[in-house]
Amino acid sequence: MDAKQRIAQLREEIDRHSYNYYVLDAPSIPDAEYDKLFRELQELEVKNPTLVTLDSPTRRVGDSALARREGFESVQHVVPMLSIHTETDTEASGALNFDARVRKELETSDEIEYACELKFDGLAINLRYENGFLFSAATRGDGETGEGVTQNILTIKNIPLRLKGCEAPVLEVRGEVYMSRKDFNRYNEKQLEKGLPTLANPRNGAAGTIRQLDPKLAAQRPLSFFAYGLGEVQGWTLPDTHSAILDALKSFDLPVCDERTVVKGPQALAAFHQSIAAKRDALPFDIDGVVYKVNNLALQKQLGFITREPRWAVAHKFPAEEQVTRLNDIEIQVGRTGKLTPVAKLEPVFVGGVTVTNATLHNLFELRRKGVRVGDQVVVRRAGDVIPEVIGRVAPSLNCSHGDISLGVGRADALIPKVKHIPRSSYVHNFSMPSKCPACGSAVVREKGEIDYRCTGGLFCPEQRKQALLHFSSRTAMDIEGLGDKLVDQLVDKQIIHSLPDLYRLDMATLANLDRMAEKSAQNIVAALEQSKHTTLNRFLFALGIRHVGETTAKDLARYFGKLDAIKQASVEQLLNVPDVGPIVAQSIVEFFAEAHNLEVVQQLRELGLHWEENDGTANLVLPLTGKTFVLTGTLPTMSRDEAKAKLEALGAKVAGSVSKKTDCVVAGAEAGSKLEKAQALNVLVWDEAALQALLANNGEGFAA
Ligand code: IVH
Repeated sequence: MDAKQRIAQLREEIDRHSYNYYVLDAPSIPDAEYDKLFRELQELEVKNPTLVTLDSPTRRVGDSALARREGFESVQHVVPMLSIHTETDTEASGALNFDARVRKELETSDEIEYACELKFDGLAINLRYENGFLFSAATRGDGETGEGVTQNILTIKNIPLRLKGCEAPVLEVRGEVYMSRKDFNRYNEKQLEKGLPTLANPRNGAAGTIRQLDPKLAAQRPLSFFAYGLGEVQGWTLPDTHSAILDALKSFDLPVCDERTVVKGPQALAAFHQSIAAKRDALPFDIDGVVYKVNNLALQKQLGFITREPRWAVAHKFPAEEQVTRLNDIEIQVGRTGKLTPVAKLEPVFVGGVTVTNATLHNLFELRRKGVRVGDQVVVRRAGDVIPEVIGRVAPSLNCSHGDISLGVGRADALIPKVKHIPRSSYVHNFSMPSKCPACGSAVVREKGEIDYRCTGGLFCPEQRKQALLHFSSRTAMDIEGLGDKLVDQLVDKQIIHSLPDLYRLDMATLANLDRMAEKSAQNIVAALEQSKHTTLNRFLFALGIRHVGETTAKDLARYFGKLDAIKQASVEQLLNVPDVGPIVAQSIVEFFAEAHNLEVVQQLRELGLHWEENDGTANLVLPLTGKTFVLTGTLPTMSRDEAKAKLEALGAKVAGSVSKKTDCVVAGAEAGSKLEKAQALNVLVWDEAALQALLANNGEGFAA
């Protein structure tokens, strides 16, 4: 196919998807796919300027349909809101190419200084401050004209209504409105509980919320903001560099992401890209890449723009987190507590950097709402460290039957949508939950008011038993190395293990007889089992798999009671005295130990030699560091972080992973990064290892912060 034919084909396809999206409000393709087509067309047109026509979709830059929607007033941007050229080569070469272009344009071989930032995955917003007060806010729209969304922006808590120390007549701040992963998950959990539609992903959550006409609805969806640039400025002298602008914005109390840096030369750009890719899953919000900007404003000016994209900036992408693939089958997975989860079996697809073949469909309710059926093309998302999920299906074509209405996977489409408007009869699904557990045949029940279906088989159910064994032996529980899922499958399927204590009855002969089990591995497992017998009360409690008792609760219980017998005998009222234990957890613990079968398991495990140290607990005693929160960061000269953590916890302290106003002390070692900066910014006490050692030597006495 020649360029002309391909261009015609791409335009036809893009127009069709735009129509589905804007006019029918029934997106027919995920964003990433749409962008791919759009970029291919852009590139072909750049290479073949004679083929550019006035009606090409590429002329319609940005979300111009927004402005056409009624409801929001149009706002003319004094300084147009630009977009950024996207480098889709996700390798280091993407960064090197950008630097090469910049130096060629500047006709220099000198190293260029760049500001490196994250590319936030939300919605671009212009905040207009006049004389230091937040005056108005608008979306980007088509770059020239946006929508006035001031009321909705006012619901965003981290946007200051008044700047600190800046009374410039006009200061327009540009940045991204986004929804943090935590807020997104919490919102969706609440919606699910209420049986209401959930958000497809945080980006759609942010975009849809800002475009909500009712600010009261917007207020229920927690959003955040990061500033990354400026628009119109009057009466404020610009510094020399972009990074200094961001420093200034930060000093005005505007939220600026700390995950940024200034570097020199192309190698450092690539290194930034790589280091952020490695952290991506751990960030509290979604990003889809990083952004490099020539730091010096004079050089920026010299570089200028091509159409609406500055030559001095580029977005360097990461692998896409959403992909389309075929749903081959739906299987039911049985969890440790008997919960049945529908799992999508997918045609293998590369998404977010890994190949995905299974993805969760969460529960029957979600599955039906998404309307997915075996054989559909579905959108799979893998973001953060979460389990991959199917977020919806792709509408096959425009002239489909009404049963094929797509369930929202679109740009700026807040709620997986419109489900309410699809008459029930037009749902076509070939799936329902089984009435008997697929693993053990026990009855499946759904308790009143609960969403989940559960197998009632308990440890009689081989699948629940397998999961219980895997949980029991996991690293943070009994830490039995080598007991992986393949081995557990065999042990349960061959009826060798019926209950947890059977694990400790395994011998070399039995193990060595199993498939793919060399004598050495069998020895290792016997040794690992033996070693695991000496444990701690909190690990043991966690390993038992009591519902709602996670690692932290197990620690709290062990510390408070000191002895297993005390926990076994504790009443709900007594349990409620343990810090952070609420009624649901307390009830669950009491129920667990009221069950004769569970007491028997515990008894047998002890008889088989499991032991731990017991003490009188802290029920009537307050440890010296009770109520104090420490954060450890960087490399300490002599102690490992785990060691420091264990010693602090033994004295009653909490050791947290991030710094906040509630942190009492940060212990910082070499190469302490953003946590140290944050501690300093919040005026939190900062110590080195020597100070910590002194406190430990004094048994935690005398700590005053
Ligand atoms: S700067 C001159 N910086 O990416 C370029 N944009 O096409 C003006 N975005 O939707 C934008 N993170 O909202 C800039 N650190 C960042 C960004 C960023 C995300 C978004 C922006 C817009 C798109 C640019």
